[in-house]
Amino acid sequence: MKRLNSQLQQDGAPLELILLIRTLLAACKEISFRVSQGALAGVLGSTLSENVQGETQKKLDVISNQILKDILSESGYVKAISSEEEEGVVPCSEDGNYLVSFDPLDGSSNTEINSLIGTIFSIAHAPQWMEANDPSAFLQPGTQMVAAGYVLYGPSTMLAMTTGRGTHLYTLDKTHGGFLLTKDNIQVPEQTSEFAINTSNARHWEQPIQDYINDLLAGSDGPRGKDYNMRWVAAMVGDIHRVLCRGGIFMYPFDKRNPEKPGKLRLLYEANPMAFLMEQAGGVASTGEGRIMEVMPTEIHQRVPVIIGSKEEVETCVSKYQ
Ligand code: F6P
Repeated sequence: MKRLNSQLQQDGAPLELILLIRTLLAACKEISFRVSQGALAGVLGSTLSENVQGETQKKLDVISNQILKDILSESGYVKAISSEEEEGVVPCSEDGNYLVSFDPLDGSSNTEINSLIGTIFSIAHAPQWMEANDPSAFLQPGTQMVAAGYVLYGPSTMLAMTTGRGTHLYTLDKTHGGFLLTKDNIQVPEQTSEFAINTSNARHWEQPIQDYINDLLAGSDGPRGKDYNMRWVAAMVGDIHRVLCRGGIFMYPFDKRNPEKPGKLRLLYEANPMAFLMEQAGGVASTGEGRIMEVMPTEIHQRVPVIIGSKEEVETCVSKYQ
């Protein structure tokens, strides 16, 4: 089976980017090990603190963030980091050529039930003019990403990654510690009859999403003329993995629950990397108003509505916004 290195070389990734990706994945392997130890290592449960988003931090959120931060800061390849668990950007090396944004442990509430969680990341060039502690360099649209992916800590540890030449899936071979290519160039089916959304928020949704979901729920008796099935992992990384593997549509729309947080998912380290992976696999990623990867960020923890997955289904959903 092909190793990650060979695939990255075949895809034309520059050497420094390959070295950075390998460094980042070394951190993810360490996280994978810590996660798998679970209660044996005393890593489950919450800390007493909240992160910048006002969410309770799990011990594994803090541990995973620290592992990534330490390894990336010392690598020399990274100028600065932005993380879900850090209020501001973390300056690394003034000579670093890359910016890395990550959610160190997406879906961390799933740690309590031994269910799917993962690390999501995106990588962009660091502009020459920027100082390492300058957050404005992170405010680039997703079209500027040079690589993005996630590591899914499930029954096996898997990596989905793109450098802009297709989306490939790798599986961590724990016998020798390498990621091996297990599916290249995945193609998301254009049609689907499976959707993922947290329907407990239905009464807070905007009208276009209410209309779209009502059509799906009406099944073969409604305008779509077929029955749909619903899945919800409560970890974006798990839901997106399923959509990449067999198609579907994943949505986290804006809602009116809390006017200060109109929507849940963050652009830099959740929506953008997943959008890049999905587009490279033939899928579509939209906010309802436009392409996710073209949103110009105004701050590093910005939230966006997310509608992502099989081409025809996302387009049908987005048509409700017009
Ligand atoms: O980071 C946010 C997140 O955990 C996503 O991974 C997931 O899709 C979503 O929140 C789950 O939200 P809810 O609590 O509404 O099910």
